[in-house]
Amino acid sequence: MTPIENPTQQPAQEIGDAWLALPSWLPVPGLGAIPVNAFLLKGPEPMLVDTGLGALSDEFVATLSAHVDLEDLRWIWLSHTDADHIGNLDRVLALAPNARVVTNFLGAGKMGMMGAGSPERMRLLEPGEVFEVGGRRLHQIRPPYYDAPETMGFFDAKDGVFFAADSFGAVLPGAVEEIGQLADDALRDGLVTWSSIDAPWLAQMDQQALGSILHGLEAMAPAHVLSGHLPLADGFGPLLRHLAGAYGRGATRDLRLETVAQIEAALG
Ligand SMILES: [Fe+2]
Ligand SMILES: [Fe+2]
Repeated sequence: MTPIENPTQQPAQEIGDAWLALPSWLPVPGLGAIPVNAFLLKGPEPMLVDTGLGALSDEFVATLSAHVDLEDLRWIWLSHTDADHIGNLDRVLALAPNARVVTNFLGAGKMGMMGAGSPERMRLLEPGEVFEVGGRRLHQIRPPYYDAPETMGFFDAKDGVFFAADSFGAVLPGAVEEIGQLADDALRDGLVTWSSIDAPWLAQMDQQALGSILHGLEAMAPAHVLSGHLPLADGFGPLLRHLAGAYGRGATRDLRLETVAQIEAALG
């Protein structure tokens, strides 16, 4: 485990054949550190997922450019419009003239108020719309918790990749490459600390409703869970157990209709 004392861009990490993580870490004084990840879908229509930290702009662009010719970048999927997700948006748009931003109506509105991005370079997704990119279909999945209502996660059934935006973030003692390198207690404490900061309403959420959402995600059985704020995870592993234990006691096995519809659509 690497202690983090300054914002740090880490080397890219492969996730199967098609996906790449672009990880960075931020120190959290007194608590440890938090990852801030972007991701890259390679292939015929390269797509960046979120745009990293503005504080690491040069390092982020250098890492991204090492893995894709920015002239070829076609899409930038924005999970939501928080600073840690759009930190390099305008710089990447300037460097990648053929890229368009994938967002929704609310995301576009919030960017308009911030003067970020440009409306003529946005591709707005309707609720539930499947986004087809490079021969694969990305199904919108609402993550179980989030800090901005425009948040869009997705499931790529071709590679079993679930992108969960801010969900499953964790404040950790230091940097690791994947969650298997963490002690169970460190992972649990990190998940609970992050979720209590990022989504304090989670503690007031109906436990059965949360349990049914977590159960639905479990049924999706992704091979890879990509979070903006967690090291790489092969499947959910202990993630759902820790969250259910912290917030979802009394969880039902009944699924909510919205969850069922999303999962069925994602699994085709
Ligand atoms: Fe956020
Ligand atoms: Fe975030």
